[in-house]
Amino acid sequence: MKLKLNVWRQTSPSDTGRFETIQADDVSEHMSFLEMLDVVNEKMIVEGKEPIAFDHDCREGICGTCGMMINGVPHGPRSMTTACQLHMRSFKDGDEIWIEPWRANAFPVLKDLVVDRTAFDRIIQSGGYISVRTGSANEANATPIEKDAADEAFDAAACIGCGACVAACPNASGMLFTAAKVTHLARVPQGQPERDSRVLRMVQAHDDEGFGNCTNHGACQIACPKGISVDYIAQLNRDLFRATISAKPEVVAGD
Ligand code: FES
Repeated sequence: MKLKLNVWRQTSPSDTGRFETIQADDVSEHMSFLEMLDVVNEKMIVEGKEPIAFDHDCREGICGTCGMMINGVPHGPRSMTTACQLHMRSFKDGDEIWIEPWRANAFPVLKDLVVDRTAFDRIIQSGGYISVRTGSANEANATPIEKDAADEAFDAAACIGCGACVAACPNASGMLFTAAKVTHLARVPQGQPERDSRVLRMVQAHDDEGFGNCTNHGACQIACPKGISVDYIAQLNRDLFRATISAKPEVVAGD
């Protein structure tokens, strides 16, 4: 099929950027969206043009690096699907497709479709280590965990940190990501010793990075390719409230 692509081109963080219209011919419905961009790039390289910069690694929906807005929707039109797992059969011959990077102050555009998502890394780092010995794998029943708690922790740990939640949110909030990272430790015994200080530090880091606050739009949950629920934000808020009223002043201040 033939497609008309409107791709965001930006040479550097300081460049204002613009859309470039690129005609993509001979696109197979069996290609993934990234494979389609690969083919477009090969042609551009042959023609002596600068190829489109986009992030990717696993191409299996695991690493979370391939985020981009496709027709105004994070990761494109299919729910629970990353851009790398999106196939061109989701489009039809003659379609016009608009492709943009994430838009958020905390995710500055580095080049074309590539944004700097290291703000997420710094939020995780602010949570610190857990003090319990993790060492080699324990015998499975050595640390009893309720089934519901284990399931909730596992579902929260499914977050791949792609940033679609931020891109979808009108406030560019990173609360769904932060809530997932806080909750997957808060629901298991190993995460209890630092539970209060962790949520205080991670929420502070979230705010320091310039993400907006959550005002319960719920767009993050719809955009999330891993189905992370906004229930985790409610859980984070409960943990944050509990930690705030019980924490020592130096912990609240982030020292
Ligand atoms: S490239 Fe890893 S999730 Fe898409």
